[in-house]
Amino acid sequence: MEHLHILMILLLYFPIVLYCSTNKVGALDSNTDREALLHFKNMVYDPRKALSGWNSSSSHCTWFGVSCTNGDNRVSSLSLAGLGLSATAIPSQLSNLSTLTVLNLSHNLFYGQIPEEFSQLTLLQSIILGTNSINGTIPVGLSQCYGLRVIHLENNQLTGNLPSELGNLSRLEVLDVSMNNLTSIIPPTFGNLTSLSFLALARNQQDPKFYLQHVFIGLTDNDLSGELQTDIWTSLQQIFLANNKLDSFIPGSLSNASQIQQLDLSSNNLQGTLPLLGNMKNLVKLNLGVNNLFSTTELNLQVMNSLSNCTQLEYLMLNSNRLAGELPSSVANLSTNLKEFCLDDNFLSGRFPQGFERFQNLMALPIHKNSFTSEIPSSIGKLRNFRYLRRKETGSLDQFRKYLVILQDYIFLHWDITSSLVEFQ
Ligand SMILES: *[C@@H]1O[C@H](CO)[C@@H](O)[C@H](O)[C@H]1NC(C)=O
Ligand SMILES: *[C@@H]1O[C@H](CO)[C@@H](O)[C@H](O)[C@H]1NC(C)=O
Ligand SMILES: *[C@@H]1O[C@H](CO)[C@@H](O)[C@H](O)[C@H]1NC(C)=O
Ligand SMILES: *[C@@H]1O[C@H](CO)[C@@H](O)[C@H](O)[C@H]1NC(C)=O
Ligand SMILES: *[C@@H]1O[C@H](CO)[C@@H](O)[C@H](O)[C@H]1NC(C)=O
Ligand SMILES: *[C@@H]1O[C@H](CO)[C@@H](O)[C@H](O)[C@H]1NC(C)=O
Ligand SMILES: *[C@@H]1O[C@H](CO)[C@@H](O)[C@H](O)[C@H]1NC(C)=O
Ligand SMILES: *[C@@H]1O[C@H](CO)[C@@H](O)[C@H](O)[C@H]1NC(C)=O
Ligand SMILES: *[C@@H]1O[C@H](CO)[C@@H](O)[C@H](O)[C@H]1NC(C)=O
Ligand SMILES: *[C@@H]1O[C@H](CO)[C@@H](O)[C@H](O)[C@H]1NC(C)=O
Repeated sequence: MEHLHILMILLLYFPIVLYCSTNKVGALDSNTDREALLHFKNMVYDPRKALSGWNSSSSHCTWFGVSCTNGDNRVSSLSLAGLGLSATAIPSQLSNLSTLTVLNLSHNLFYGQIPEEFSQLTLLQSIILGTNSINGTIPVGLSQCYGLRVIHLENNQLTGNLPSELGNLSRLEVLDVSMNNLTSIIPPTFGNLTSLSFLALARNQQDPKFYLQHVFIGLTDNDLSGELQTDIWTSLQQIFLANNKLDSFIPGSLSNASQIQQLDLSSNNLQGTLPLLGNMKNLVKLNLGVNNLFSTTELNLQVMNSLSNCTQLEYLMLNSNRLAGELPSSVANLSTNLKEFCLDDNFLSGRFPQGFERFQNLMALPIHKNSFTSEIPSSIGKLRNFRYLRRKETGSLDQFRKYLVILQDYIFLHWDITSSLVEFQ
């Protein structure tokens, strides 16, 4: 019993003692923070004397650009952007600031490489080194700074690949490595960066092409503008680029994205014609709504024919574009999994196609704000799951009838489940 007790104590305490004793050099405190900062000052050319107040007459926590955590005078933030600071290397002593969460040295003239020792900054959340003259590769060790949310390395002279290990940074939200000389390969591990909301890669070695090999890209609600880059689609499964300012044509190479399951490019300003996406055999959701895409009767035929290859398709949103001409009867060959098919707010005309009784899963078919000449085929009344031709309408049927009279081309259908009443016009 006694022995067991001792053994347990050993098991409980020995590893910790061992750990501490092997880390003697890492006895970092506010004094080593202060030394590290003074060392930094000595290494850096400071033409505007921004660091002149960094001297022994005051606590380093009061120094310009330095913030400390409450209580223990450990440095939590070092923010010295745009001060004309210059050095042949980013002083590696900064890695002694082991409680650092923010390092912002952007818009200066730092040369040399990002110190490997930064891997010791395990509490780091933001590393902002953009617009300097930093060269070499992105250190793999950064992937050990597990708290990193923001990495700004844009506008430097970095070379090499994006380390696949960065895919371990599960909290990463922002990665800007644009305007460097990186080779254009995004590691597959980046598919694990599910918090990533901003990924900027433009203007690197193979400008403007960056080969995306990972399975997910989520950049919705950003200020991404300009072109949809070509050749980036090869093995992507999900692309969410909605609510940006993309204003290019949809590149033909997108049709090569044969693995795509979800493609949401809605609410941009995409130009040109509706794309042909017949290679996307796994496509479940296609949202091209609220753009500036146009079509003709002939193109509608091609598009619907090509989409008939997408047998998994459930959501097809083409609303609020400039689609014109007639819809082909081959619309009826779209996937029988179709749940929502949004065509509203376009310039479509002619007879509305027949054959919708195939779509037993269809729930919504908003087609208002078009110029269809015929009534909706009564077959839609046979769809078991059907709710609305126009979604998000509330109120009684009587109100809707009034609405119908006012808007000539507004076609509404409501299937009241309780009474099996079908109304359409
Ligand atoms: C030290 O810094 C303070 C400002 O923080 C400044 O007033 C003082 O002149 C400096 N002393 C020396 C010796 O540079
Ligand atoms: C870095 O610091 C500068 C100057 O304080 C600031 O304008 C900039 O927003 C900071 N960068 C980031 C990404 O926080
Ligand atoms: C601070 O960093 C330097 C260089 O990286 C190192 O030699 C030194 O031992 C560190 N100081 C402490 C107290 O760990
Ligand atoms: C990076 O820049 C420094 C200073 O300009 C230079 O000495 C070094 O050779 C460069 N390293 C690489 C890998 O380009
Ligand atoms: C980080 O990622 C690499 C390769 O992407 C992987 O081999 C490694 O096990 C990961 N390391 C940790 C600590 O998660
Ligand atoms: C970028 O890399 C290429 C090939 O490695 C090299 O030829 C070129 O000089 C580099 N450009 C810059 C600006 O460093
Ligand atoms: C993503 O992370 C999981 C678990 O951390 C790992 O098993 C998987 O290999 C990673 N995927 C990629 C593409 O790195
Ligand atoms: C699709 O990919 C192949 C092979 O990479 C390429 O030759 C072809 O041009 C691509 N198609 C389009 C439309 O970009
Ligand atoms: C549909 O898929 C078949 C078989 O892969 C292919 O030959 C055909 O070109 C595709 N059709 C369209 C319209 O893309
Ligand atoms: C639907 O597809 C079948 C087989 O490809 C074809 O024979 C038929 O004509 C198509 N229907 C319409 C309405 O295009």
